[in-house]
Amino acid sequence: MKSWIVVVAAALVSVGAVSVGAYFDNAPDTEAIMKALFKKNSGKFNTALKKEIETSPTDWEALQKTTGEIAKLGGDLEKGKPGKGDEASWKKLAGKFGADTKALHDAAEAKDLAKIKASQKAIGGSCKACHNAHRE
Ligand code: HEC
Repeated sequence: MKSWIVVVAAALVSVGAVSVGAYFDNAPDTEAIMKALFKKNSGKFNTALKKEIETSPTDWEALQKTTGEIAKLGGDLEKGKPGKGDEASWKKLAGKFGADTKALHDAAEAKDLAKIKASQKAIGGSCKACHNAHRE
């Protein structure tokens, strides 16, 4: 959360109150969530997660920390707005993304590698449909 505060503070200083208003209209920001989840992994779904899944023996603490962060961001997606597309479709697709990321974290909490992999696959297969409908 600290970085979010820094972003808002920086926006206040550099561009003034009008844009900050726009920022809050969109919060939680869809682009920021996508960036946090994917951009730092050069567009691929969480590479830290991939590595942690493949590591043997499993470092459950690290894995659960990663899936917890993914689930938090994934759950917030539905509350934001997409660049385009209608609201009902967004609620459905973003809602599914929230449920998929929660299932991923639940599986990590249960230390169930097979379920983790299944969730990872479901999430990895959900990108295109939502981007086609809602990404500008
Ligand atoms: C529920 C809808 C939805 C799902 C599922 C989804 N995305 Fe997105 N994604 C978006 C939207 C909407 C944007 C455009 C955000 C904006 O710029 O306002 C976006 C933007 C992005 C961006 C560009 C971020 C930037 O720098 O501006 C990346 C990278 C990305 N998504 C990766 C992924 C990957 C990888 C997956 C699947 C593992 C995925 N997304 C699944 C809705 C989704």
